[in-house]
Amino acid sequence: MKKFSIVIAGGGSTFTPGIVLMLLEHLDRFPIRQIKFYDNLAERQDKVAQACEILLKERAPEIDFLATTDPETAFTDVDFVMAHIRVGLYAMREKDEKIPLKYGVVGQETCGPGGIAYGMRSIGGVLELVDYMETYSPQAWMLNYSNPAAIVAEATRKLRPTAKIINICDMPVGIEERMAQSIGLASRKELIVRYYGLNHFGWWTDIRDKTGKDLMPAIKAHVAKHGYSLTEEIEASQHTDASWSHTFAKAKEVYEIDPSTLPNTYLKYYFFPQDEVAHANPNFTRANEVMAGREKHVFSECQRIIENKTATDTSLEVDEHASYIVDLARAIAYNTQERMLLIVPNEGAIVNFDQTAMVEVPCIVGSNGPEPITQGSIPRFQKGMMEQQVAVEKLVVEAWEERSYHKLWQALILSKVVPNARVAKELLDDLIEANQSFWPPLH
Ligand code: NAD
Ligand code: G6P
Ligand code: MN
Repeated sequence: MKKFSIVIAGGGSTFTPGIVLMLLEHLDRFPIRQIKFYDNLAERQDKVAQACEILLKERAPEIDFLATTDPETAFTDVDFVMAHIRVGLYAMREKDEKIPLKYGVVGQETCGPGGIAYGMRSIGGVLELVDYMETYSPQAWMLNYSNPAAIVAEATRKLRPTAKIINICDMPVGIEERMAQSIGLASRKELIVRYYGLNHFGWWTDIRDKTGKDLMPAIKAHVAKHGYSLTEEIEASQHTDASWSHTFAKAKEVYEIDPSTLPNTYLKYYFFPQDEVAHANPNFTRANEVMAGREKHVFSECQRIIENKTATDTSLEVDEHASYIVDLARAIAYNTQERMLLIVPNEGAIVNFDQTAMVEVPCIVGSNGPEPITQGSIPRFQKGMMEQQVAVEKLVVEAWEERSYHKLWQALILSKVVPNARVAKELLDDLIEANQSFWPPLH
């Protein structure tokens, strides 16, 4: 059986150790001969890499491992690029969240002005990864979950139209796991769903089990009472902090807006922006929470492994929920025809929506990549929301490409969470100042 070679781009990510451990758990279904780490920041990646090297030697010594900041070394001889970079690191996420809050506007890493600012930073970084892949391993596929996925996906669609890149988000995976658990099913894999939207901006319209039984009524009954909160918290979930519990509970209110569907958690930022601002601590946002929590834990644990020269007793955990990445790689490698929610060019999947939009819909995935499943026509309410939001995302990519101050201002004006054009301009000028070393100069 063929064994695969993969490169993890963003080797220094807080998610890297959990993903490596997850890959090891799945070696029987997805055999690996080589894992490489690539990052543009050696000192950050080295800590994760040294710890993962020790861990790999102990648990899977047959796998070749290397970590590098050299693109040629990283991207040569690979089958899959698993990409999760964060251009600007947590220091910039903190600014994305705090600058909008100064204006009483939602401060979030992928939604509103924060997401726009992050998008302007990420586009160049992800395009660079695509180019390295096409240069050094043109047969490879990139499985990208670098955020903000909606803007990154639009950028790669438009600026690298033939690239073999698939953009994916784990939020639907996480919510479906909760849906399954809320009605007593063992796993999300028992659900067959219909869903449409943009990334972090979508709705489930139908959920059945494999026999065809409609599960929507039971799930809705749970969501109407508890949102996506569960009585027992999901073990090994990525989303356990208090801020995430708040988000899952808030889905109850979001659901009330259209009880014929079930909503993505991120819609709360667009429907209840004032609540989010009121609830936020402008001096300690989610970035601070993650730096004090996940980032600190991962890096101190890597340090401990390096000092002890062993990972046998590590508290680093398998990121089992990230196994959707293995499902996606397997779908391409073995033509499994798995049904998965992916971010793909619309091209008819949503009949009455911009054909060039990057939409999140169920796809059948095989060796040729994803084939979107048509979701028919969507109602006026969602269509109106999505048209406004997709215009924001497209304007950001145009602004980046054309270096256009005006288009970025228009993107901010159109963002549902920004109250008016004047605030949009003040915000833009603040964001330009903060992002000087990351954004292209605008004129
Ligand atoms: P992190 O800051 O811990 O790690 C990101 C790594 O990327 C850092 O080591 C950084 O040095 C590196 N990097 C930055 N720019 C780079 C570039 N141009 N080239 C190569 N490497 C670069 O961040 P994290 O919290 O672990 O998150 C990583 C990414 O994964 C983020 O974009 C996050 O939003 C995303 N993410 C997405 C999903 C999803 O649902 N799509 C889920 C979880 C995380
Ligand atoms: C969800 C989203 C991701 C996002 C993550 C943020 O999983 O789908 O796109 O990156 O949440 O989580 P964090 O713990 O970093 O706030
Ligand atoms: Mn996501």
